[in-house]
Amino acid sequence: MIELIGLTKRYGDFTAVDAIDLQVGRGELFGFLGPNGAGKTTTLRMIAGILKPTAGTIRIAGIDLAADPVAAKAALGFIPDRPFIYEKLTGREFLRFVAGLYQQEGAEVEHRARELLALFDLEEWQDELVESYSHGMRQKLIISSAFVHRPAVIVVDEPMVGLDPKAARILKDLFREYTHRGHTIIFSTHTLEVAESLCDRLAIIAGGKIRAAGTMQELRDGAQHGADGLEQIFLRLTGENAARDLMDVLDA
Ligand SMILES: Nc1ncnc2c1ncn2[C@@H]1O[C@H](COP(=O)(O)OP(=O)(O)OP(=O)(O)O)[C@@H](O)[C@H]1O
Ligand SMILES: [Mg+2]
Repeated sequence: MIELIGLTKRYGDFTAVDAIDLQVGRGELFGFLGPNGAGKTTTLRMIAGILKPTAGTIRIAGIDLAADPVAAKAALGFIPDRPFIYEKLTGREFLRFVAGLYQQEGAEVEHRARELLALFDLEEWQDELVESYSHGMRQKLIISSAFVHRPAVIVVDEPMVGLDPKAARILKDLFREYTHRGHTIIFSTHTLEVAESLCDRLAIIAGGKIRAAGTMQELRDGAQHGADGLEQIFLRLTGENAARDLMDVLDA
C-alpha cells in the first residue's frame, strides 16, 4: 500500500533522506524510529504528498504520487507533528470540513464524526470552537480527522505527544483495530515501548538512511548478541552513547 523507491530529499548540499526503499503492505501497522533529525518527518511529509521529493518514487495503493497526486492522496489520511486547525471551526465542523475535502458528506460522515468524538471524550466539546481546546484535545481532533474519511492508508508523525494515558491507550487500540480491518498505518514515534508492543514491522532510520527494518524478531536476529530489547537495538544502530562518551571526557 506504500511503496518507496530511492526516495531522496536534499536541502541544498544536505541530504535529509537518502535513497530510501520501503514497502508497507495492506493491514500493516508500521513504525518509524530514529534519532532527532534522522529524516522521519521529511519522509512522512513526502509520503503524505506535502513535500516534493528530490528524487525517487512514492506509490500509494499502487498509484504514483507524482503522476496522479489527487488519486494517490484520496487514499491517504495524514496526522502531522505540528497540526494546523482552523480556530474558528467547532470540532464537529472541522471533521465535516476534512471529510468534505475527500468528497464525503452526509449521515455516514456525521455518524463517524460523532463516534470518533465520543471515543476521545470530546462529545461535550464538539460544538465549541477549536480555539478553546487544550493541546491534547486538538491532537485528538486531528487524529479523528484522519480517520473520519476512512482512508486506506494513514500516515502519522509522533501521534502520542501530548496525549494523556487514556487517550494514548485509545489511540493504540484504534491503530490496531484499523489495521486489523485491512487498512495500513505508518507512524513515527520516540516511544520504543509503543513501537515494540504495537508494530507489525519497524524501520530504524538515522542520517536519512534505513539502518534496519523488519519485525521485532528480525531486528533481534539481525542485531549482535545481547541486544534483545528495542532500546539496545536502537542505540546500537544509531550509535548513541553520548552520555557515556561525555562522562569519559569529563572523567579524563
Ligand atoms: N526545510 C528544511 N531546510 C533545511 N533542512 C531541513 C528542512 N527540514 C528538515 N531539514 C533537516 O532535515 C533533517 C531531517 O529532519 P526531520 O524533520 O525529517 O527529522 P526527524 O527524524 O523528524 O526528527 P525529530 O525526531 O526531531 O522529529 C534534519 O537535519 C533537519 O535539520
Ligand atoms: Mg520529526
